[in-house]
Amino acid sequence: MQHLIETDDFELKEILSILDDAKRFKKERVNPVALLRDKLLFTLFFENSTRTRSSFEVAAKKLGAAVVHLDPSRSSTNKGESIEDTFANLGAMDPDGIIIRHEDNDIARKLSSMNLASVINAGAGNRAHPTQALLDLFTLKEHFGELGGKKVAIIGDIANSRVASSLLLLLPRFGVELKLVAPKPFMPQDTTCEKYENIADIIDDVDAIISLRAQLERHKKPIFDDYSTYASHYCITEEILGNRDIIVMHPGPVMRNIDISDEVLSDSRCKVLTQVNNGVYVRMAVLKKLLLDS
Ligand code: CP
Repeated sequence: MQHLIETDDFELKEILSILDDAKRFKKERVNPVALLRDKLLFTLFFENSTRTRSSFEVAAKKLGAAVVHLDPSRSSTNKGESIEDTFANLGAMDPDGIIIRHEDNDIARKLSSMNLASVINAGAGNRAHPTQALLDLFTLKEHFGELGGKKVAIIGDIANSRVASSLLLLLPRFGVELKLVAPKPFMPQDTTCEKYENIADIIDDVDAIISLRAQLERHKKPIFDDYSTYASHYCITEEILGNRDIIVMHPGPVMRNIDISDEVLSDSRCKVLTQVNNGVYVRMAVLKKLLLDS
């Protein structure tokens, strides 16, 4: 039984195989519903989601799997049942996989050690969001081909972002050079990546920008009173991009005109919806790998 808690759970050759499968699923545009026809998946999202939950469901259905959603706000965790007991009870229904999002950095790893089903981390606190990082990798490779030597700036609330945490682990494995751009409260301390406070210092030396939302739900107290001042320094605008050949990505949800301007969101260099589209194919490949190939 294989789990996906962080991208490090996969060897490089396994990631390459996932990227190949995702490319094939995207190219063929047929739904191989026989692949996971007899498989059962639970989704268990203790935090809000638009993209990840629906993308996993679409991916599972394209492969023929059955998906059951448990809404934690209406589950017996509200009657005091522990998450471990909830998990054990779901496991007793013999699912093949359980897709979980939780604010706790460690709970997905802990539940995976129960070995009741393949656990797929759909977002753990600020620690990890492996399928988002994989779909970002796929999107970068789709655009650039070989990634060795490419320079990617991650801009925004890096310290509190699980997407950033996963990208910092994953992209250097493919030869990407990362540049982190953030105001001091949003800059992680425990990284050897190059750090900058101003976009102007990197804009002429990057191939791609990954913008991130301020993770307000993870701030213990408000960090900035006024996000319009923050936006005046960190929002990706047409003025900042100019005519440079740079692609702009964001995991979503995008805070319009704080993270990325309306104009850039409509610019062909912006790959935000391409990322969402690619997410379905990457998650199909991840489900195939975990439920069939392992
Ligand atoms: N990228 C991402 O995790 O989006 P959701 O929170 O909508 O799932």
